[in-house]
Amino acid sequence: MEEPSDNRQKKVVAVVGGGLVGALNACFFAKRGLDVEVFESREDIRQAKVVKGRSINLALSHRGRQALKHVGMEEKIVSQGIPMHARMIHSLNGKQSPIPYGKKSQVNRLPATYKLTNHSETYPNAKLNFDHKLQDWNGTKEHIQADLIVGCDGAFSAIRKQFLRRSRFNYSQTYIPHGYMELTMPPINGEFAMKPNYLHIWPRNTFMMIALPNLDKTFTCTLFMPFDEFEKITTGDQVIEFFQKCFPDSIPLIGADALREDYFRLPAQAMVSVKCSPYHIGDKCVLMGDAAHAVVPFYGQGMNAGFEDCIVFDEIMEQFNEDLAAVLAEYSRVRVPDDHAIADLAMYNYVEMRAHVNSKWFLFRKHVDNILHFVMPKTIIPLYTMVTFTRTRYHKAVERWQWQDKVNTPTFYFLKYKTKKNYHVDITSFSSYSFILHINNL
Ligand SMILES: Cc1cc2nc3c(=O)[nH]c(=O)nc-3n(C[C@H](O)[C@H](O)[C@H](O)COP(=O)(O)OP(=O)(O)OC[C@H]3O[C@@H](n4cnc5c(N)ncnc54)[C@H](O)[C@@H]3O)c2cc1C
Ligand SMILES: *[C@@H]1O[C@H](CO)[C@@H](O)[C@H](O)[C@H]1NC(C)=O
Ligand SMILES: *[C@@H]1O[C@H](CO)[C@@H](O)[C@H](O)[C@H]1NC(C)=O
Ligand SMILES: *[C@@H]1O[C@H](CO)[C@@H](O)[C@H](O)[C@H]1NC(C)=O
Repeated sequence: MEEPSDNRQKKVVAVVGGGLVGALNACFFAKRGLDVEVFESREDIRQAKVVKGRSINLALSHRGRQALKHVGMEEKIVSQGIPMHARMIHSLNGKQSPIPYGKKSQVNRLPATYKLTNHSETYPNAKLNFDHKLQDWNGTKEHIQADLIVGCDGAFSAIRKQFLRRSRFNYSQTYIPHGYMELTMPPINGEFAMKPNYLHIWPRNTFMMIALPNLDKTFTCTLFMPFDEFEKITTGDQVIEFFQKCFPDSIPLIGADALREDYFRLPAQAMVSVKCSPYHIGDKCVLMGDAAHAVVPFYGQGMNAGFEDCIVFDEIMEQFNEDLAAVLAEYSRVRVPDDHAIADLAMYNYVEMRAHVNSKWFLFRKHVDNILHFVMPKTIIPLYTMVTFTRTRYHKAVERWQWQDKVNTPTFYFLKYKTKKNYHVDITSFSSYSFILHINNL
């Protein structure tokens, strides 16, 4: 008879960073029966005040939902959101055209970190520490002993800095020339200022504004624009002039006076893409979420990928009987190609948004992709369907997409010849939104 494996001895896991991925990960580890401690640098978000201009709405899609389901949080988070049935395109003349999602899907939003934090606290073997900032592995006043350190401390991860000091660690980071700014559209007579069950989009070539509804009947508008352009606007009058030119229908809804002020409340925020490999050090430390892979937000997958990290790690823990040396190595082996693929896809979408949005040929191909999927649902699956509505491994989805692209090309030429249809402007895979969460204090 074999002895029960040592690997099943109760281990102590330190999760650094109590954001979305850290909070969910705490639930996963606690559910496994491990002792978990979370160290979060900020105060308890459940007591924190909402910061104006700093509330991000997030799309939660299939991958994220599967991970939440595993810890019994899917319905709790999804059920309180706002369903979204379609995108609403705002053209320059103020005309609004709805574009339904390809699949039946709702979009909801919620203070998810809050809920996950609350949930992790229900496990007796989980402990949360707020106002605990990891300084350096050696420089901390308080020393923490753990069998496993899980770095969930976001795009500027302090844990990842330790990896950078080591040999054979690949690392790259890229800041895109665009920034983003959030503006609030208040309710009108206590009601939403626009139709709530839509993702509102104002596509304007290199600029774009989107608006997502909040539970308090406001909309959060996010303006994406090159930093150069943000910087050109220095006075309230210039803000109004710019909006008059690009988003005229939004001015009365946001309010001209509010717009003049809110534009200058916070500077535009940068967006960074980070790729690295491997994600682990020995049997001691592993990176997940944005700490491992910050992606630009043009596929609505950053948090979803981070949530999927948790479930993939959990699957590997099961497979390798919690033997951390084996688990961590396997996790890097399995997960790096997928997270790199979604980082690339998100960047591709960003480039696509800027370069191809006016190309009829490109829009046409997208349109045909959707038709082919309708005719041959098993064979031709649009990329965003694979990414958004399935758990097909990201890198497999990309491979399949490249294959389909080759296979489809003759069909495209044929249909191009045959059809004279006008295509919708399917600007970005903001079309891929299926669930919106609302998190404060990011
Ligand atoms: C404009 C925008 C729109 C987006 N839209 C979407 C979307 O629609 N769908 C989607 O899936 N994703 C989206 N994302 C991406 C998503 O926000 C991130 O992928 C997600 O927040 C990553 O979660 P995380 O827990 O890994 O990191 P974070 O949310 O950054 O959390 C990290 C946590 O670690 C803490 N921390 C940092 N340093 C330390 C330290 N030294 N010690 C202790 N704690 C520390 C921080 O306080 C924070 O709480 C968007 C991102 C942006 C910028
Ligand atoms: C979180 O838990 C606190 C008590 O611990 C409770 O008052 C609060 O309503 C909970 N919030 C949510 C969103 O579940
Ligand atoms: C960390 O601190 C210990 C004890 O103070 C010391 O022996 C060790 O060399 C330090 N390690 C690093 C990487 O600085
Ligand atoms: C680093 O990148 C190179 C080039 O892409 C690759 O061949 C190598 O395997 C990578 N190393 C690690 C540790 O991921």
